[in-house]
Amino acid sequence: MDNTVILSGTASNGIAEGLSKFLKLPLIKVENKILPDGESYVRIPKNLSGKNIVLVQSTYPPQDKHIIELFLLLDAVKSFSPETIILVIPYLAYARQNQRFNEGEPVSIEAILRIIGTMGVESLVTVEPHRAESFEAFEGKTLIIDPIPTLAHSLSKEAKKPVVLAPDHGAIQRAEELAVILKTDYTYLNKERNRKSGEVTLKKGNKYDFGGRNVIIVDDIISTGGTILNAAKFARKNNAGKISVMAAHLIMAGGCYGKLKKAGIRDIIGSNTIPNSHAKIVDLSKVIGEGVFSVLEAKGTF
Ligand code: R5P
Repeated sequence: MDNTVILSGTASNGIAEGLSKFLKLPLIKVENKILPDGESYVRIPKNLSGKNIVLVQSTYPPQDKHIIELFLLLDAVKSFSPETIILVIPYLAYARQNQRFNEGEPVSIEAILRIIGTMGVESLVTVEPHRAESFEAFEGKTLIIDPIPTLAHSLSKEAKKPVVLAPDHGAIQRAEELAVILKTDYTYLNKERNRKSGEVTLKKGNKYDFGGRNVIIVDDIISTGGTILNAAKFARKNNAGKISVMAAHLIMAGGCYGKLKKAGIRDIIGSNTIPNSHAKIVDLSKVIGEGVFSVLEAKGTF
């Protein structure tokens, strides 16, 4: 434990600090700046030779900058020949390009995970990465943090008997988990996305009468808001009471927050894997910290 440090990358959004407090481990912050030509510069201001290094770098927007800085940081970390590198990526960008949807496309998440796998990372800890199967492309060990129990804890008491709604097939497990925690029931929708335009529509045949009950739509990520807006429209049309949404990662691209508010969505609950000043934000440092602790413990470090 004496030999372990938390290294805060260029995009931690307070999670590195949270881990340092929770695990009672020293915190080191990287130095960084943008060079006159636009390139990123990073430097670790302390010699970390022989340490267990827990590097925290989220990859929220601007994703490409934060990913490049992650690669640069891993190279700098490696130069100290540390005992172990544990990488914490609270929000892992590109996770949704997990297939070649159209000929000629990359499987972006696998490309990124393969690169990280070549950079000496022993364990990768991440929160709700869309599809766990993508991690087969990563050489090291992976620990996936489930944010739903922590997010559920933040729901107000009046939301205790809502219907949980999965906006698509991929979200069914999340909806079921949340419904079990809230001791309530759930349902789901069939959606489709136009792979060229990105437009989201509901397939024909979705049916449910919410009978005036409150609805919580649960998903992994809100990006443009198209998925949530369709689900909210469906809920509204089918006698929903108050509509709230919950997702681990709030990207909220292109005026998404305003669109959701305009659609009458009451609460938007998310986490600090991505900076956000509009929604109700839940700190995941403790649950991530427990995950990091289990990785360190398995190594015999704690
Ligand atoms: C899709 O399978 C994901 O789980 C999300 O539902 C989706 O990526 C959200 O994106 P948007 O907010 O742009 O609809």
